[in-house]
Amino acid sequence: MTGMGSMIEARGLKRTYKARGKAIEAVRGIDLTVQHGEIVGFLGPNGAGKTTTLKMLCTLLEPTGGSATVAGSDLRQDSVGVRRKIGYVSQAGSTSPEAVVGEEIMSHAQFYGIDRATAKQRGQDLLASLDLSDVWGRTCGSLSGGQRRRLDIVMGLIHKPALVFLDEPSTGLDPQSRANLWTHIRKLRDELGTTVFLTTHYMDEADSLSDRILIIDNGTIVAEGTPAELKKRVSGDAITLTLRNEPDAASAAEIAGKLDGADAPVVDAHVVRLHVPDGGRALPLLLAELTRAGIDAIGVDVNRPTLDDVFLTLTGRSLRDQEI
Ligand SMILES: Nc1ncnc2c1ncn2[C@@H]1O[C@H](COP(=O)(O)OP(=O)(O)OP(=O)(O)O)[C@@H](O)[C@H]1O
Ligand SMILES: [Mg+2]
Repeated sequence: MTGMGSMIEARGLKRTYKARGKAIEAVRGIDLTVQHGEIVGFLGPNGAGKTTTLKMLCTLLEPTGGSATVAGSDLRQDSVGVRRKIGYVSQAGSTSPEAVVGEEIMSHAQFYGIDRATAKQRGQDLLASLDLSDVWGRTCGSLSGGQRRRLDIVMGLIHKPALVFLDEPSTGLDPQSRANLWTHIRKLRDELGTTVFLTTHYMDEADSLSDRILIIDNGTIVAEGTPAELKKRVSGDAITLTLRNEPDAASAAEIAGKLDGADAPVVDAHVVRLHVPDGGRALPLLLAELTRAGIDAIGVDVNRPTLDDVFLTLTGRSLRDQEI
């Protein structure tokens, strides 16, 4: 049994691929819980195991170990039940180039037992909400990459699934289309209570869209939490001071190093860098101390850690390098 609140409950989920006699442990026994109505961002570098996890949760790939309940049905014992309640937008997309958009949508809807009038209405509404109003009669192959990606998303949502899996939904979209998609995903959740589980390489996307983030690396979940919680795990806020000259920088570093909880300041010519637990509190104190010492800071910056800093701290690698 799952708790009433859980939309996904996975325990020890595992997938090992066999390729040319070698075993690849793509997903190494992960636990995850997703609540009803949550938007969860699944972040990780290329090859981390994101798609493999999604495919298992969507019943498209059999786990080699572990168990899961998805949308109230057991993954292994009731895969039909799972499939009926979920939507899945694959990383690669699912439309064929020769198919006409409207027909593709209608046949997809028919698969879920939706009548034609409802399917057409919903399809056209969804297309319009993703800025694709005029494509009903065109072939999928004639759409631009970004338009086709948005069509994939329309197909994944046509049966109003309670839970939708989106594998890199916004890769290849321009900034405006991405913003549009975020608005749509938030609306899905706010108006229909849809639970959303999405993978992304975009930090700003995970940050602004997700209620909770799971970070996967090498088939293992290495961190989870709200964006704010994850950022707190990185060593505080970065303060950068620019001084008039090197002697001032040396004095400023000495003063700054005495701030509560500060790490050792790093001096680079006229610039001093350090971390403090709370930049907003430390800054006025620091500026007052500098003034008292007769030191004039000509530049001050406070930077909150980003999710990329979190990833770097946890794995020693930058996710930004992996963006495609
Ligand atoms: N069919 C397969 N046969 C063998 N190995 C596979 C297969 N599919 C995936 N893998 C391997 O499993 C690991 C996880 O792949 P997966 O596609 O889940 O990663 P991902 O996190 O989705 O990466 P990306 O960000 O590139 O989409 C990789 O090492 C990959 O090479
Ligand atoms: Mg993938």
